Amino acid sequence: MADTPEVPQQAIDYSQRIPNNVDLSNDRTLQRALERWQPAFLNWWHETGPSNTSDLQVYLRTAISVDRDGWANFGYVRMPEYRWGIFLAPQDANRKIHFGDHKGQPVWQDVPGEYRSPLRRIIVTQGDTEPASVEQQKLLGATCPSLYDLRNLFQVNVEEGRHLWAMVYLLHRYFGRDGREEAEGLLQRRSGDANNPRILTAFNERTGHWLAFYMFAFFTDRDGKFQLAALAESAFDPLARTTKFMLTEEAHHMFIGESGVARILQRTCEVMNQLKLTDPSQIRAQGVIDLETMQRFVNFHYSVTLDLFGSDVSSNAANYYTGALKGRYGEANIGDDHSLAGNFYSVQEVANGDIVTRQVPALTALNARLRDDYVREIQAGVDRWNKIPERFGMPFRITLPHLGFHRKIGSFADQYVTPQGQVLSREDWERQSADWLPSDDDHAFVGSLMSRVIEPGRFANWIAPPARGVNNLPIEFEYVRFD
Ligand SMILES: [Fe+2]
Ligand SMILES: [Fe+2]
Repeated sequence: MADTPEVPQQAIDYSQRIPNNVDLSNDRTLQRALERWQPAFLNWWHETGPSNTSDLQVYLRTAISVDRDGWANFGYVRMPEYRWGIFLAPQDANRKIHFGDHKGQPVWQDVPGEYRSPLRRIIVTQGDTEPASVEQQKLLGATCPSLYDLRNLFQVNVEEGRHLWAMVYLLHRYFGRDGREEAEGLLQRRSGDANNPRILTAFNERTGHWLAFYMFAFFTDRDGKFQLAALAESAFDPLARTTKFMLTEEAHHMFIGESGVARILQRTCEVMNQLKLTDPSQIRAQGVIDLETMQRFVNFHYSVTLDLFGSDVSSNAANYYTGALKGRYGEANIGDDHSLAGNFYSVQEVANGDIVTRQVPALTALNARLRDDYVREIQAGVDRWNKIPERFGMPFRITLPHLGFHRKIGSFADQYVTPQGQVLSREDWERQSADWLPSDDDHAFVGSLMSRVIEPGRFANWIAPPARGVNNLPIEFEYVRFD
């Protein structure tokens, strides 16, 4: 759009200790504060980041500018030398608030006093998930199914580290002493720690093997996408610009998850087809993951990720919207008045042992709405997965369990709902839950398949090779070097 005046854009300056496109060298106080935080970040990375990676050279993608072509920069990087930095999407000088009570006013370049505490809370909660996922995935490198996959894991890890930088920049730059303290807290909490855990439950689950990793990247990184997309609508412009750029990185994480699960399904179907097997134990005996187990992992990762959207009905969500702190998914493309006053939205809950639909004020149902948008995208991904057994002429299809299944947060917390949406007593539910959720045995079986495959072009038996390599390179390219 030629008539949108843009503020002159900064290229990413890699000559600085902290690469950035926010003109850090002209804000000495902030620069010094962040330079003090940087060694603490690196300590955190060494302690809880991917283990035994100091000597590796990894074929990674690094952003060199924030426009679309800025991602085309690939090359070998020694992991601890990755250039984490602060990159915001370009500023639009004419940007106006486009929803909520302040609609039509210019966006904010600073934090209004009245929104200081909710904005800080939003940023800290988002920021906490970034290092958490790196911690969860710390040990996966030891059992990589191929060099291609190992490289993809590390790409995700360094970018989650950069997402932490993105949130820490906002805390340091806009929230004074409180922000600096929160930035330290982000390096002190630990995923799964009994005393000082990460804020959200799904980020305290362990990612003990590669099936869990791919499921996490498909389901949970996509929650990240929807949260970031809602924050990219924010009236607080630096938050909107930061999250907008993070979204470009998130797309790749979801690709790794979706294609990873697809390659497992592909391999299992190949073996079932070749050997004419349908019995899960016989399929497992061939060293591949049976489809029933895949379904149980889908049930688990889907349900714990739904909890990340928060309560279905929430006055916080309403306040975030009317204050224009957090919008709806694709807010600008929705054809309504963007105030939602007087509108209603359907949510589900349990009443007298049945699941019923209730109309609630749309403003209070924004968490449910964002989750429903997410579910639509998840369903489309599942439909793509299901093309695989279909191609093999197999009747099996992955299905998403009912919204109420295995929930800890929201209207279905403390309810015992089957994947089909039937409300049971606790006892009845627990008696059958081993059919629905991965058991310790399932984890042990999947874990038993994990072994390290690092010959270029080779893949573990339980997963098919990808359709193509990274950056148009061959699949057998040496994506990680060990010297
Ligand atoms: Fe992230
Ligand atoms: Fe991610």
